[in-house]
Amino acid sequence: MDLMQTVDDTSKELVSNLSLEDAASADGNLADLDALLAQVETHYSAKGGADDAVKITQDARALLVQIHEHIGAGDFETANLKQSEFSRNCKACHKLYKKS
Ligand code: HEC
Repeated sequence: MDLMQTVDDTSKELVSNLSLEDAASADGNLADLDALLAQVETHYSAKGGADDAVKITQDARALLVQIHEHIGAGDFETANLKQSEFSRNCKACHKLYKKS
């Protein structure tokens, strides 16, 4: 899954754009992350026996929608909190599915 590296880079950009309160760039990162995680979700759905991975990815995508809404409302503080939750989803999946 080469796309994990892209997911990682885009997540870091999101964190920095949120701290800069750059709504347009952050929204671009959210759209990219959603497209990438849609691929991750499809991968694990097709694979089967990876219900946890599918659930974690769906939760992560739901958080992206929330981050988008908070940015829209100009509430970067809550957007940042949701971003931390989003990062925990990455770790939750790695704990279960990442070998190294
Ligand atoms: C649904 C499960 C899942 C989610 C969610 C997930 N990852 Fe991963 N990630 C993996 C697996 C499995 C690997 C190890 C296999 C691989 O490298 O593709 C991995 C590997 C990685 C790697 C190492 C890539 C490399 O080239 O060695 C990075 C960095 C990474 N993930 C970042 C993230 C970030 C950041 C997020 C959250 C925004 C995230 N991942 C969300 C499953 C997930």
